[in-house]
Amino acid sequence: MQHQSKLPNVGTTIFTVMSALANEYNALNLSQGFPNYPSSQKLNDLVTAAMNNGYNQYAPMAGNLDLRLVISNKYELLYNSTYHPEKEITVTAGATQAIYNIVSAFVRPNDEVIIFKPAYDCYEPAVEINGGKAITIQLSAPDYKVNWEEVASKITSKTKMIMINSPHNPSGTIWSAADMLQLQKLTKDTNIIVLSDEVYEHIIFDEEQHQSVCLFKDLKQRSFITASFGKTFHNTGWKVGYCCAPEYLMSEFRKVHQFNVFSVNHPAQKGIADYMQDAETYLGLNSFFQQKRDLFLSLISESRFKFKPSKGTYFQVLDYSEITDEYDLDYAKRLTKEFNIASIPLSVFNEKGKDDKVLRFCFAKTDETLIKASEILCKI
Ligand SMILES: Cc1ncc(COP(=O)(O)O)c(C=O)c1O
Repeated sequence: MQHQSKLPNVGTTIFTVMSALANEYNALNLSQGFPNYPSSQKLNDLVTAAMNNGYNQYAPMAGNLDLRLVISNKYELLYNSTYHPEKEITVTAGATQAIYNIVSAFVRPNDEVIIFKPAYDCYEPAVEINGGKAITIQLSAPDYKVNWEEVASKITSKTKMIMINSPHNPSGTIWSAADMLQLQKLTKDTNIIVLSDEVYEHIIFDEEQHQSVCLFKDLKQRSFITASFGKTFHNTGWKVGYCCAPEYLMSEFRKVHQFNVFSVNHPAQKGIADYMQDAETYLGLNSFFQQKRDLFLSLISESRFKFKPSKGTYFQVLDYSEITDEYDLDYAKRLTKEFNIASIPLSVFNEKGKDDKVLRFCFAKTDETLIKASEILCKI
């Protein structure tokens, strides 16, 4: 029997491709976005304690209440913004499930969803499988600045949703308050839903402030925030995240969530809830990663790669245009095979494979790995 694929354009993700190549050539793997050091022993112990204390059956559909309470407190503390723990916060199987769920709950066939490129790779397939149409807006290296007139020109009566992501993977750029105000102005008096992917909210550098949608009153009323504990607590393999939204949006979200996963890993939720009682567990992340970014950049400052320091996320984009004019995917593969260092070419996140001659390196790595990586990069 033959079936027509619902996602004919989707192949193996670049992360799998580059990690497999890194393994084959025994290369340093700075491609995929995950730490190569352990998650906190205290957090591991709290999850173990949760298992030993009986948190081994289904969690409530919306998530463990202790966790939703501590998430709600975080929004009060950081943004002076209220999300009701029972009605406006849902714990998810990572941000990926939250994103898929939001799109599934609202996007109908022929609805348009505006996506800024380069974009994280799970956005477009979620739209496509639900019959929606991705309307892309291509941003360019090195600043990835949004032209708001272009955004205005893409909004139509069919626009159902706009997906945004700051701090931004893969570019390491952030949106300013002025950007958020533009978005607020453009969507005012419309029915457009904003999906704000804020998984790197706690990884922002140089004293910059994260501009969450919840800081902008009108925007908050139409927005979902998606978040990931995997990013915040160095354990991407646990796949626990959450989303927040006003009640009228969240109640629709839960109709899908209930039959998609129903509920999420219970002991991890309880352990994270106990761990987060101390706000330093997430507030200390900026300086932890800024030290890694600064170490990496100072060590490669004499190399032939050009860069603008990452403003957020744990990714640094390096421009290799002074070294070669090879297509970025070919160059990333060659670096892995010949120089034993793996990265991610940005063209895979772009419209029609647009090539700005830049590669993304993940610096969520031990200092030892970063030192080794920079030694290689300086020899190129
Ligand atoms: C921008 C962005 N959104 C969402 C995700 C997915 O997060 P999770 O692992 O919690 O599903 C990632 C992971 O790399 C990401 O970079």
